[in-house]
Amino acid sequence: MNNQQLVALAQKYGDPLYVYDANKIEEQYNRMANAFSTVNKLKINYAVKANSNINILKVLKKLNSGVDCVSIQEVKLAIEAGFNVKDIFFTPSGISFEEMEQAVNLGVQITLDSLSILEKFGNKYPTIPVCLRINPHVMAGGNHKISVGHIDSKFGISIYQIEGIKDIVKETGLVINGIHMHTGSDIYNIDAFLHATEILLNTVKEFDTIEFVDFGSGFKVPYKEGDIETNIEEMGITLSNRFNEFCKEYGRDLTMIFEPGKFLVSSAGSLLVKVNVVKPTPNIVFIGVDSGLNHLLRPMMYDAYHHITNISNPEGTEKIYDIVGYICENDTFGSNRSISEVSENDILCIHNAGAYSFSMASNYNSRYRPAEVMVYNGEDYLIRKRENFDDLIKNQVIIDLE
Ligand code: LLP
Repeated sequence: MNNQQLVALAQKYGDPLYVYDANKIEEQYNRMANAFSTVNKLKINYAVKANSNINILKVLKKLNSGVDCVSIQEVKLAIEAGFNVKDIFFTPSGISFEEMEQAVNLGVQITLDSLSILEKFGNKYPTIPVCLRINPHVMAGGNHKISVGHIDSKFGISIYQIEGIKDIVKETGLVINGIHMHTGSDIYNIDAFLHATEILLNTVKEFDTIEFVDFGSGFKVPYKEGDIETNIEEMGITLSNRFNEFCKEYGRDLTMIFEPGKFLVSSAGSLLVKVNVVKPTPNIVFIGVDSGLNHLLRPMMYDAYHHITNISNPEGTEKIYDIVGYICENDTFGSNRSISEVSENDILCIHNAGAYSFSMASNYNSRYRPAEVMVYNGEDYLIRKRENFDDLIKNQVIIDLE
């Protein structure tokens, strides 16, 4: 989508506005499928948490994607989007047994991530095959908050607890049909993947009932110009070769699974915001926009960089600004940015806002969450209405204190 089209969407639907390019999602999906095309059985399960709008899920379903869900609500959204339960993989961490049972009743593929739940599950549902999330104890990921495969992480069952798993399997007769790992997000170093892969495949060898190996995700996408991204094509060749060789050795045609979120949807999304104020101060010229950390938390939460451009005046003289939100904290979308000259009422585009952006939005400061629009084959569709005051108070129970 070009700048004019984006500005026209902001005019048509109002601001702030999330816009998603569904064709870009298709492109990323196909890129991934092609990278691993030498694997006989490949399954890409979109990580719903990245962006859970039902229409985004429908786009992925059309592409033949499965889904990776971490809450029973995500499972229900996927069913609502039309996914068959055989394509829904449930990989939560630390949830109640009751929530797990709801997923069992819906018939989705279950992944367990502690010895305690494995034992409970085995005693109650010995005939339902399950996948195990293994913690390979590998340090990977863009920052500490999103590095989840190391020894101090809460996720998965430690590779040092394999004997415990085997004991439970023996006692309960449970069948382990898959092995899973996810070591973090924003991993660009293929070596970290390959190292964790070897550990995972060693775990597979401990069982003779495995049908699939789920390598999780964590592919790094470029957030700024010149940023390094995971070389998915190179990784595809190396990992596919290793996997094919392993399948021969193991004697089974295993399914290879990935569950990408960012890789599929991040670059497809933009957050369009309007400039409320241009505010020169002794040191900094602030651009205050009609959005904040309530709509896009990543810069504040992870110091994440999101590229910002002035789509109302793309050809102006570049000036240096700090782009800030309207929340009563120092919510900053970008500091010291060189942007084409900004005037009040201009529309700015915050790029790469398709993943973990709307899905992490809140009503902080009692602000409404934005509308969402999807553009697909040249048509634009409103896929979520902007919230209003009724949405804000609908669950508040107002008591009479007189
Ligand atoms: N599978 C599991 C089990 C996960 O926990 C995650 C992400 C994914 C797959 C998808 O990872 P991805 O391809 O998106 O890297 N809010 C953070 C990212 C948190 C990721 C949590 N788990 C951010 O905005 O950077």
